[in-house]
Amino acid sequence: MVANEQSIQFDLATYLQEKKALVEVALDQSLPIVRPAKIYEAMRYSLLAGGKRLRPILCLATCELSGGTTAMALPTACALEMIHTMSLIHDDLPAMDNDDYRRGKLTNHKVFGEDIAILAGDGLLAYAFEFVATQTQGVAPENLLQVMARLGRTVGAAGLVGGQVLDLESEGKTDITAETLTFIHTHKTGALLETSVVAGAILAGAGETDIQRLSTYAQNIGLAFQIVDDILDITATQEELGKTAGKDLLAQKATYPSLWGIEESRRQAQALVDEAIAVLATYGPKAQPLQAIAHYIVTRKS
Ligand code: FPP
Ligand code: MG
Repeated sequence: MVANEQSIQFDLATYLQEKKALVEVALDQSLPIVRPAKIYEAMRYSLLAGGKRLRPILCLATCELSGGTTAMALPTACALEMIHTMSLIHDDLPAMDNDDYRRGKLTNHKVFGEDIAILAGDGLLAYAFEFVATQTQGVAPENLLQVMARLGRTVGAAGLVGGQVLDLESEGKTDITAETLTFIHTHKTGALLETSVVAGAILAGAGETDIQRLSTYAQNIGLAFQIVDDILDITATQEELGKTAGKDLLAQKATYPSLWGIEESRRQAQALVDEAIAVLATYGPKAQPLQAIAHYIVTRKS
């Protein structure tokens, strides 16, 4: 398939490295330490702990694809990472998944205590919205408002929070269906990935048809991302993942491999990615970064 060949020829490693470096600098500058230093240190500890920065990069990529500039999308790109980071800090808390490691480092509450970790998450979530509203330049106000509304919906009960609740309710149950599992993931991880993709296009002033096409791309890679995450939880090591491996089995979590087996899960992830790549064919070479990212999602090792 032509799209697939294109995406493999594209130098994704360099592209990701360049965009990631840009995001790292912007994130570092976004949050200086002021009084009370402890909370800023806790927020910075998790925000600057590395990670793939996939959400910001997707946002920058779709803004560019839609004719916008990096500068237009950078504040939103940072906000997406702030929101993602806060969700991970809270997800790792003893009341949730009770995890000790994240991104190769001790989790936030292990270093700063539970009280500060909860507040660090709250601080990052609120700051994400402030940051988008105050730092975005060169974007039509109605487009900016639309992005902020989408961000709100994405973190709330219609998105991350709703997905997490169903995830917690499903733990230990043996009769979870593929439909419930997909609901969990489209909300818990898919919603923020979709918003990352769509926000970049909205900021650049993209029309409804393009936004729809990019949503389809995002929904497909979002689900594929999660299927691969479930597979890696079984097949990868803690060193590769930067977080505890084998957790799903231990927590008796329903996962795609537990429902379908590893081979079928791989096949399903690949089919989703193939469709995501195909839906962008209409953009020609301009879509190469997004197509290559889709391809990377099924081949990644961490
Ligand atoms: C990781 O999933 C967790 C998430 C992707 C998001 C969890 C969402 C919340 C804690 C709600 C956050 C609250 C607000 C207000 C947005 P996982 O546990 O399956 O993966 P892991 O192995 O990386 O921990
Ligand atoms: Mg977790």
